[in-house]
Amino acid sequence: MGTAMAVLLARSGHEVWLWARRPEFIAELAGSRENARYLPGVPLPEPIRLTSDPEQAARGSDLIVAAIPSSYLRATLRAVAGAIPPGVPALSVIKGIEQGSLLRPSQVIREELGPRPITVLSGPSHAEEIARGLPASVVVAGESPELNVLIRDELTTGRFRVYSNPDAVGVELGGALKNVIGVAAGICDGLGFGDNAKAGLLTRGLAEMTRFGTALGASPATFLGLAGVGDLITTCFSPFGRNRALGDRIGRGETLEQIEASTPKVAEGVPTCRGVDAMARQLGIEMPITAALREILFESKPPLEAVSELMERQTKD
Ligand code: 13P
Repeated sequence: MGTAMAVLLARSGHEVWLWARRPEFIAELAGSRENARYLPGVPLPEPIRLTSDPEQAARGSDLIVAAIPSSYLRATLRAVAGAIPPGVPALSVIKGIEQGSLLRPSQVIREELGPRPITVLSGPSHAEEIARGLPASVVVAGESPELNVLIRDELTTGRFRVYSNPDAVGVELGGALKNVIGVAAGICDGLGFGDNAKAGLLTRGLAEMTRFGTALGASPATFLGLAGVGDLITTCFSPFGRNRALGDRIGRGETLEQIEASTPKVAEGVPTCRGVDAMARQLGIEMPITAALREILFESKPPLEAVSELMERQTKD
């Protein structure tokens, strides 16, 4: 997603420094002018400059874009914090929740990089499609309406439409929560279930996402927008989505350990499931799909058994 954002910004006339932690990876990108590992076939336009030196990347910048998987976010930011000029606004495109602290990525960014305006971008936004210039619509949200509008206007192109939404908590949580339902949707596919099962899962998954979000202060309407149902559709139906693909393999009988050992792609739904399930239990929020997924992923419950239990459980009414 970091590379896709760099391509998007470069195409709309911005000077971009793309930073990555490992010098070997930057050398690979510089040699081929392509991120062959994650975005094969997408040439990196000339205005993108590459570095593994955070000072070189951040010096004189107007905006820092953070696209780091939530599990590595805090450690990575801590390592580069000294190089990030104070007060420069940040845009987070991260969709997850930090393990342990259960903080949203924007909260981790604020803790590690100090006070600065932060906007989050979410919605149906597969990096593979954005980088190829296929149409996408997303939403930005944050505490600074001026920054949201500036980012909206700077990022909007004939192929990329950006809305702004005052509900920063809802937009950021929507992006995290849909990953959990995305893994569950993949399990449905892997088990060979049909359209009825998947539609039921998405609808009840959205209800669960909305219940969790509103308990944390989000507006329920946000979950009916791009950052909620919009991203849920993309994630649950995508042939290449990481969360759906991981779930599909679980449904076909592989274990989480086997899958994680075989792919470098990070499926945010895995740590997010653990974190959201823990928070839901702490706060007394009913999240049966998330709880069933926790049992499948981390407690070796056979998926078919979890499905039967979900279908037959007592409902409160
Ligand atoms: P997936 O790769 O799981 O589909 O998640 C990417 C995403 O957030 C698309 O909006």
